[in-house]
Amino acid sequence: MKSASISVSFKNEISEIDNRIYGSFIEHLGRAVYGGIYQPGNPNSDENGFRQDVIELVKKLGVPIVRYPGGNFVSGYNWEDGVGPKDKRPVKLDLAWFTTETNEFGMQEFDKWLESVGSEMMMAVNLGTRGPDEARNLLEYANFPGGTYWSDLRRSHGKEKPYGIHTWCLGNEMDGPWQIGHKTAYEYARTATETAKLMKWIDPSIELVACGSSNFKMKTFGEWEHTVLMEAYDHIDYISMHEYYGNTNDDTPSYLAENIGMDKFIKAVVAICDMVKAEKKSEKNINISFDEWNVWYHSKAHDEQLEHWGRAPHRLEDVYNFEDALLVGGLLITLLKNSDRVKIACLAQLVNVIAPIMTNDEKAWAQTIYYPFFHASSYGRGTALNAVVSCDTYDSAKYRNVPLLDSVAVRNDEKREITVFVLNRSLTDEADLSIEFSEEVKPIEHIYMSGYDLKAANTAEHGDVVPKTKSLESGKITLDKASWNVLRYSF
Ligand code: AHR
Repeated sequence: MKSASISVSFKNEISEIDNRIYGSFIEHLGRAVYGGIYQPGNPNSDENGFRQDVIELVKKLGVPIVRYPGGNFVSGYNWEDGVGPKDKRPVKLDLAWFTTETNEFGMQEFDKWLESVGSEMMMAVNLGTRGPDEARNLLEYANFPGGTYWSDLRRSHGKEKPYGIHTWCLGNEMDGPWQIGHKTAYEYARTATETAKLMKWIDPSIELVACGSSNFKMKTFGEWEHTVLMEAYDHIDYISMHEYYGNTNDDTPSYLAENIGMDKFIKAVVAICDMVKAEKKSEKNINISFDEWNVWYHSKAHDEQLEHWGRAPHRLEDVYNFEDALLVGGLLITLLKNSDRVKIACLAQLVNVIAPIMTNDEKAWAQTIYYPFFHASSYGRGTALNAVVSCDTYDSAKYRNVPLLDSVAVRNDEKREITVFVLNRSLTDEADLSIEFSEEVKPIEHIYMSGYDLKAANTAEHGDVVPKTKSLESGKITLDKASWNVLRYSF
């Protein structure tokens, strides 16, 4: 048993949390769309072909915004292929994932689906094979009220009122050599800037996300962000970050500390944003859209064997285990700790493809990582507060001085509740935690995930890795070894 303490002052605020930090992502990739959210003819689907069992799980998760239609897919996508009468939509090759895209599902269907789950669309434009012209046409189609070619085309497709899409991505991972239409930093910076200008001229109320680096290890990291920001600063609102994690060396102590790596990455990007702000003597901040984050490694070997040009193949179908859920909890803590600058974040992805929700033809179920996300989305809205932690540390192969506990608190003034999220990274020791608040609080409950084999997973047959609840005592709390904890109080 290790003793530890957490002190939470109601006034030690990090930031108000933008609800979009609980965003997610649906790409035309594998079975995310076809066989995931959309499966006409399945007994669980409604008249639109939407899987009702998936809708229920998504609604519970409470994702306020969903990025669409990619990902790598968007860099070869013609949005016009996915609107209008279905029987006129072309079948095309997708060169991002080497599959065949039927275009049976497009933004019209996605919009309807979003209505049924209560989320909004975060739309990405293609800056790979296309550019400013197609992006401005798409915006005119989506957001202009009517009386022009593109807005009237939308109305003729049955959508009288504009979609009113507020958050837009200027391409995807354009720094990556794997990307369709990959660009140098300067090429992308120019295209993104010119696209942004046209888009904001049409609809000044929109917010734009420019592509940052595809991950922290990219050779062009830093230089890329600086070049893009120097060109586009006045025309954009966010720069994107992407990162995926995996326990590839089967080194759990290092793996459970990967959110420290995420924190370093965020701080590095914020530093570049602020350096450019200083260079430009600007009053404006550029914030972060961490629009792809998750664990992704379990499915990689399988996916290397896939044949080309299949339709909706099983791809990126990571089966998540208990230690993945612990890390996802840690990553959520890090996003909340940086919520003064991270305003949007998308768990990549939502259904079947590196996803918290899986389906087969019979049912949909929650993977292990579903639960920490559900907890953060449910109890992590309001104002993020620093939780001052005092605990032992450890060294792992990858990280030095890793605190055994990681934590953040969230105060919800409307509900008069305060929640403290705590990850116990210790694989051997319980934590004997004393917790104090600056104001009087009353315990509600202690939700936790612990006691599972680190490699235990939920499948269609077994859904055993789930949270449990126990009563919460004031003052002293025991946190199990290797545990995710949600300590809920009212005030
Ligand atoms: O989310 C899966 C893929 O990961 C996305 O298409 C791409 O943007 C990233 O490399």
